[in-house]
Amino acid sequence: MTGGAGYIGSHSAKALRRTGHRVVIFDNLSAGHREAALGAPFIEGEVRDVDAVRRAIRESGAEAVMHFAAWLDVAASVRDPVGYYRHNVVGALATLEAMAAEACRQFVFSSSCAVYGEPLELPLGETHPTRPVSAYGQTKLAVEQALPHFERAYGIRSVSLRYFNAAGADPDGELGEDHTPEIHAVPRALGAAQGGPPFEIFGEDYPTPDGTCLRDYVHVADLADAHVRALHHLQGGAASTAYNVGTERPSSVRDVLAAVERVTGRAVPTRDAPRRPGDPAALYASAARIREELGWVPARPALETIVADAWRWHAAHPRGFETPRHRAGLRDGGPDMAAGPGGR
Ligand code: UFG
Repeated sequence: MTGGAGYIGSHSAKALRRTGHRVVIFDNLSAGHREAALGAPFIEGEVRDVDAVRRAIRESGAEAVMHFAAWLDVAASVRDPVGYYRHNVVGALATLEAMAAEACRQFVFSSSCAVYGEPLELPLGETHPTRPVSAYGQTKLAVEQALPHFERAYGIRSVSLRYFNAAGADPDGELGEDHTPEIHAVPRALGAAQGGPPFEIFGEDYPTPDGTCLRDYVHVADLADAHVRALHHLQGGAASTAYNVGTERPSSVRDVLAAVERVTGRAVPTRDAPRRPGDPAALYASAARIREELGWVPARPALETIVADAWRWHAAHPRGFETPRHRAGLRDGGPDMAAGPGGR
């Protein structure tokens, strides 16, 4: 599993191990956390290094690869397409090259609803045209579009999971979201409730009921479950495909803030801010395909539950995973991370 020490990767690794799979995590720790591996076999390495990925596949005897390793900041991708193409496209192609060379033929890919771009209709189904607005979305689509060629030539079958807004934390409290910098709405709102900087509302003049953007927040544990199901589907011999993974429930930024205030019992100070370039007014999924074909139904769909699980993690880990790297000061005084890296 590449990027298995990151946010969605670590939750998925835990879910896979719980269902009896042997998981080897391959991560360069640029954004992931060693502790998030929860003791799973761990290889520190770079996905663009084909030989390193080949070695990892060979030595672990991997039958499948889940590929999470990527940068994830949509706005940063517009400023730095080189970095995003290098990490997201070159990284995925190198991983696929290594898989082809080692005859490893099942691939689960972390894609995104960003492949659709500005929605022409809602909810978004998988047949909606793919016209990404950001370089980030384009990199995810580029990998999806390469996959049929890798299947034809090398027999690699794949499932692409197009995540909507991943949020929440491990219901057991062992794992959570720890990005530097943190760009996402739920952890930022929790940070504001904890006395951090006020939450900036990026635009309140959208054509939505309360003027703020609508998104489909999906619990990271439910995303993890989608990965387990996608793998089982491939192991059962299924054909390659792509699935949306979302709850089909639109929530506004103000809904998020209200949920955070209810869950924490604290006020969330806010500040009005301009629209963030590239933010569509509304994005929410039709998840009919994954429900019908994989039997995936989110177990924790309510925004309140998502926020409550995230809050439990944030309250218990106000400084995140606190790795030795962080304690050495790199977290605050290290290289400027504003243009990435991310890491699922
Ligand atoms: N928002 C704020 N203030 C903040 C942070 C976010 O108002 O401080 C708003 C955003 O404008 C947006 C909503 O909250 O309307 C959600 O923003 P996020 O940054 O949490 O998530 P995005 O919808 O922008 O991005 C997510 C994932 C991406 C993925 C994208 C697909 O983070 O990886 O969905 O659109 F590609």
